[in-house]
Amino acid sequence: MTAFTTTSENGIAIVTLDLPGEPVNKLDAGVVDEWEQLIERLRGDAAVRAIVVISGKPDNFIAGADIEAFTRLASQEEAEALSRRGQEAMQRVEQFPKPIVAAIHGPCLGAGYELALACHWRVATDSPKTQLGLPEVQLGILPGAGGCVRLPRLIGLRAALDIILAGKSERAQKALRLGMVDEVVPKSILRQVALAAADRLARDGIPKRRPPRRAVDALIEGTPVGRQLVYRMARRQVLAKTGGNYPAPLAALDVVRIALERGAPEGYRAEHERFGALAVTPVSRNLVQTFFATTALKKDDGVPAGTDVTPHRIRRLGVVGSGFMGAAIAGTAVLNAELEARLKDSELPRVGKGLKAAIGILDERLKRRRLTRSQHQRLAALLSGTADYSGFTRADLVIEAVFEDLAVKRRVLAEVEAEIRPEAIFATNTSTIPIRDIAAGARRPERVIGMHFFSPVERMPLLEVIPADRTDAGTIVSAVRFGRAMGKTVIVVHDHPGFWVNRILSPYLNEAGVLIEEGVPVELIDRAMTRWGFPVGPAALLDEIGLDVAQKASKVMHGAFGERLTPSTVVGRMLDDNRLGRKNARGFYVYHEGHKTGVDERVYRVLGVKPLEGFTPEAVQQRLVYLMLNEAALAFSEGVVRSARDGDIGALFGIGFPPFRGGPLRLMDDLGAQQVVETLERLHTAHGARFAPAPILQQMTERGERFYPD
Ligand code: 3HC
Repeated sequence: MTAFTTTSENGIAIVTLDLPGEPVNKLDAGVVDEWEQLIERLRGDAAVRAIVVISGKPDNFIAGADIEAFTRLASQEEAEALSRRGQEAMQRVEQFPKPIVAAIHGPCLGAGYELALACHWRVATDSPKTQLGLPEVQLGILPGAGGCVRLPRLIGLRAALDIILAGKSERAQKALRLGMVDEVVPKSILRQVALAAADRLARDGIPKRRPPRRAVDALIEGTPVGRQLVYRMARRQVLAKTGGNYPAPLAALDVVRIALERGAPEGYRAEHERFGALAVTPVSRNLVQTFFATTALKKDDGVPAGTDVTPHRIRRLGVVGSGFMGAAIAGTAVLNAELEARLKDSELPRVGKGLKAAIGILDERLKRRRLTRSQHQRLAALLSGTADYSGFTRADLVIEAVFEDLAVKRRVLAEVEAEIRPEAIFATNTSTIPIRDIAAGARRPERVIGMHFFSPVERMPLLEVIPADRTDAGTIVSAVRFGRAMGKTVIVVHDHPGFWVNRILSPYLNEAGVLIEEGVPVELIDRAMTRWGFPVGPAALLDEIGLDVAQKASKVMHGAFGERLTPSTVVGRMLDDNRLGRKNARGFYVYHEGHKTGVDERVYRVLGVKPLEGFTPEAVQQRLVYLMLNEAALAFSEGVVRSARDGDIGALFGIGFPPFRGGPLRLMDDLGAQQVVETLERLHTAHGARFAPAPILQQMTERGERFYPD
């Protein structure tokens, strides 16, 4: 393999990394060996005064260490050796007698940024494609090639912890402000500027740097007592965010502390030891699997490979229903897919309100400096509105986001079909109504499909695409690609009530109601589940979803699946007391100026229950989690998802299932089907038939099978 090529200009060697046959550059043992041989040769070459490292890929510097190699690690020692090898290579770069300049365009992440850190100067392009950072903790590991040691020395302790502990990456301008790079330039002059820097460094020597921190930071970080305070606060923040479920950020914090307080050699030792220990944990394995699952879904069009399709390019979007959902769909589509979007509602004031909400999504990006003022203006101009269907003849895709009612949705479908061109696609945004029922009277059922967005659309990463029985392959591929263009991870699911996400969520939410009926305090339930790893507990989630919406969904699910999904009385009673959740600031929780405070104690009176003592979080977790697992097994056996991968991604991105557990199907594989069945049987005896183990689990136990074949 020759990953590197070298040319020379005016005594400066330009080393270009372009890993053959790979979409991105990544560092593995072979690449590192080749790099070392190359720079050894350049060390001895008297004609070479300095080196510039640049990428041969159009839009990628180095994506980090080769993550696939992590999946092959057989032991902690092997992982430790891998990190040590990376550290040694970076140390040789740092100590190289001639200046080395990194010329960065595109992602410069993990070991890629660690290489840049070891270089003597860093020039980055101002392209939005350029991002620099250390995302390792998101894979359950820590920067293992010197990043924990070098970054705090370069940019200061607090700024470095901010990046390392959250696994953040930054755009070039912010990276420049932080001191992560030395120069930011347009792409067209990257090479020249890097060459000029190399020339300057070779002539004048490497400049001494100080972290560009504010006086207050310097004051705090300059004393051991101040730094202890920073470590303590960082630890507290990590624990609050991770609930102690993710070991990597805490280990990284330790390594940063050791490297600063006891010196770099001790820091390097701690870094490779901790890297080794973390790389073989189940948490890291699950997070790495999730990375590959997400990457694979970026290329999956939702139809079997080789299917003959003519997908439709979506250039213009129509959205019917300018409420909360419709407006957010239009705003997100404009923001990410940059196409014309036209919002339709029955009355102009409503349309106006929807347009305002859609533009609000752009405003928020402008505020966070993700958009420039001129980009904002250009995108806002793509949004338009109407109280009739004018302009819909030009739409390639119409998404309806009207009231969740079969008759209303069918009427809208008929109206839209009368307006749009025959090849245009009609997508219905529903969370529970079967698509085939909506499509039953369609003139062109092959062009009708479900697109289930999650709220808030601009933030939730998942989209369920649901073909009905007569939807054609071109429509599926078009909807999937459009969802991706909107920035979503897309899973294609079967047209079954509740599809995948609401199907597995439904029994979990119902059971939370049953627990409340039994007298389990609301805060105990929610705390038990956040401790288990969910971002919010089920009662808080019901408030977010809206109790009216939740009731509608649970009725549909009950109708479809019968007794197993009998709703508790809790949601109905809450609604009788006009408690809709966050939207009317009346729910399980008290809302003060939009902020959730504590549980509303009046809720117990409304529900006619008395909160009792004596329940353990473990018992609550078991009942809620096992019902979700069992439902996931049942739905999987009915073919609701195409693979375990899709099912787990749906749960992680749609419900916030704890990522460190890998997803419900991965978790059942880890526990073993037999153990899942035994626990369900115990719960069945204690609490009733809804816990009866899914037949597929019994069968898997007998045959020793798993959801994932590996
Ligand atoms: N290792 C192995 N494969 C990688 C990779 C990596 N670090 N980064 C990307 N790839 C692969 C993807 O799996 C995909 O492979 P495929 O084509 O066979 O499916 C291909 O490269 C293209 O990737 P994407 O589809 O994700 O391309 P995008 O352009 O959408 O995104 C990216 C590019 C932002 C670089 C994104 O791929 C990414 O975030 N990669 C991971 C970055 C990361 O986590 N780096 C840290 C690695 S750990 C490390 O460095 C440890 C060190 O401290 C010792």
